[in-house]
Amino acid sequence: MIGLGTMGAGIAEVFARGGLPVTAVEADAGALARGMGIIDGSLNRAVSRGRMSEQDRAEVAGRITPAGSLADLSGADLVIEVVPEQMPIKREIVTGLDQVLRPDAIIATNTSSLSVTTIAAHSAHPDRVIGMHFFNPAPVMKLVEVVTTVLTAPSVGAAVTDLARALGKTPVQVTDRAGFVANALLLPYLNHAIRLLETGYASREDIDLAVTAGIGLPMGPLTLLDLIGLDTSLAVLEVLQHEFGGSRYTPAPLLRRLTDAGRVGRKSGAGFYDYRQADPGQGPGSGQASNQDQPAAPGSVTVLAEPAAARADELAGLIEQAGITVTRDPGQPSDLVIVAVGPDGGVTGPATAAGRPNDAVGLHLVTPELAEIVAGPRTSEQAVSAARALADRLGLRSVRSPDRPGLLVGALLYPHLRDAVAMVGDGYAAPADVDAAMTLGCGYPRGPMTLLAEAGPDRAVAVLAAMHAAYGDPAFAPHPLLADYVAAAVSPLEYPGR
Ligand code: 3HC
Repeated sequence: MIGLGTMGAGIAEVFARGGLPVTAVEADAGALARGMGIIDGSLNRAVSRGRMSEQDRAEVAGRITPAGSLADLSGADLVIEVVPEQMPIKREIVTGLDQVLRPDAIIATNTSSLSVTTIAAHSAHPDRVIGMHFFNPAPVMKLVEVVTTVLTAPSVGAAVTDLARALGKTPVQVTDRAGFVANALLLPYLNHAIRLLETGYASREDIDLAVTAGIGLPMGPLTLLDLIGLDTSLAVLEVLQHEFGGSRYTPAPLLRRLTDAGRVGRKSGAGFYDYRQADPGQGPGSGQASNQDQPAAPGSVTVLAEPAAARADELAGLIEQAGITVTRDPGQPSDLVIVAVGPDGGVTGPATAAGRPNDAVGLHLVTPELAEIVAGPRTSEQAVSAARALADRLGLRSVRSPDRPGLLVGALLYPHLRDAVAMVGDGYAAPADVDAAMTLGCGYPRGPMTLLAEAGPDRAVAVLAAMHAAYGDPAFAPHPLLADYVAAAVSPLEYPGR
C-alpha cells in the first residue's frame, strides 16, 4: 500500500481484515504515523462496539507493517497506490515500482479521477496496471470498481476481480472513462447541491434533509462532500468537466473557494459543516437549525389547492387532526393560508386569487415524513416560519424551497436520474450496473434506475422539461432514452437503450 491518507488507511484495513499481510508505505514519518493512527482508531472502534474481538484486532493490526520506501515493497504480489491525485506523483511511483517489483506483480491505482490508461503507460509493464477503486469509508462500502484499460492483460482483470471478492467486496468491471460509474453520477449531483446552496435556493440543512428524508439516501450531499473531501471532489469534477464538458461538471465556485481556503471537509476539521465543535453530530443533517426561532403553530389555517394538486383534502384532514381550525373558504379570516401544491409548486396563483399573497405558503407532502414549504415571491418570512411550525405540529420534518420546477427534492433528484439514463444511453453501463454501483458504493437503498422506475419516467420528463424551460440549461433537457421509456412504456430497469 502506498499512501496512508483516509482512503489508503481504510483500504489497508480491508486487506488486513481479509487476512493478507500489508506493507504500508509513506515517505514522510509523520504521515505514516497518522495513517497507522487512522487504522488503529478504526480497529479500536470495532472492538469497543463489540464487532471485533481483542484477539482479532491484534491479529489484523499485526498484519500491517509500516515502511518508509518503495524498496520495502520488493516482495509484493500487488501494490495499490493511494497517493494524491496528481499525475506527476503517480508517474514517479509507477516508474519507481518498475525498479523494485517482480515483473509479474500487479500495480493497482485507486485513482478516482485520473486516466488509468495514462498511469499504465508510464509503467514498463502496462499490461499489469489496473484500477481498483474503493469507496469511502473503505471498510464499510462494498463496491470496488475494477478498471481495465486497452493495455490491461485479461488475467490481471480476472485476478483483481477475484481478489476483491475474496476481500468481501463486490467488484464491478468498468472501462477507463472519467469518473467510472459511481463518481461520474455522484459528483455532478453533489456539485448541483453546492450551486443550490451558493445561489440561496435552499439552506445547507434543508438541502441535506431533502435528500435523506425526501429521497432516502444515507447522507445529504453537503455532509457527503465533507466526508469525501472537497479537494478530492473538485479534482474529480475538473476531470469530468475536461472529458464531458457542460454545466453539471463545472465546479461550483463555492467548492473552489472552500478548497482554496483549506476548508476541505472532515479531514481538515471543517467543510460545509464545522467538525471542531464539541458535538459535531448535531450539525450535519439535523435539519433543526433553521427551525430554532420559529413561532407557535397557527391557530387557524385556510387550505387552498393549486389546481393540479390532489392532496388538499388529505392535508386539511391532517391539520384538523392536530387540533387546528381549518377553513377551505378563501374569504374567511385565518392566521395562515396553506396552498396544497404538487411536486412542481405553484403557490402564487391561488394565493393571489385569494387576495392573500403575503401570508400564503405552498406545502407539498413529499413523503409521510417530509414536507416542502414553498415560498412564492410575495410570501412573508413570518408565513414561512408559521408553516414550518405547522409542519412540526403535524409531525412532519420540513424543508424550504422556492417556487421553482421540481421544488427542492425534485431539482436534486431528477437531473441525477437523467445523468444515470445518459450513462446507460451511452452504452457505458447497464441499468443493473448503475444501480449496483450506487447502492454498493454510495449506500443508496435503491439505485437511480430503480428510483426512476418508481417515480415514473413520465414524471422525470415533466420535471426536467420544466427545469429546462425555466433555466435553458441543456443538462436538464430530458434525455431521448427517457422519452423512449415513456413512449414505448418500457421499464428503465429492463431496456438497455441499444
Ligand atoms: N471506518 C470504519 N467503519 C466505519 C466508518 C469508518 N470510517 N464509518 C462508519 N463505519 C461503520 C460503523 O462502525 C458502523 O458499523 P456497525 O453497523 O457494524 O456498527 C457502520 O459503518 C454504520 O456506521 P454508523 O452507524 O456510524 O453510521 P451510518 O449508519 O450513518 O452509516 C455510512 C455511515 C456507512 C458512512 C453511511 O452514511 C453511508 O453509506 N454514507 C454514504 C457514503 C458514500 O456515499 N460513500 C462514497 C463516497 S464517493 C467515494 O468514496 C469515491 C471517491 O473516489 C470520491
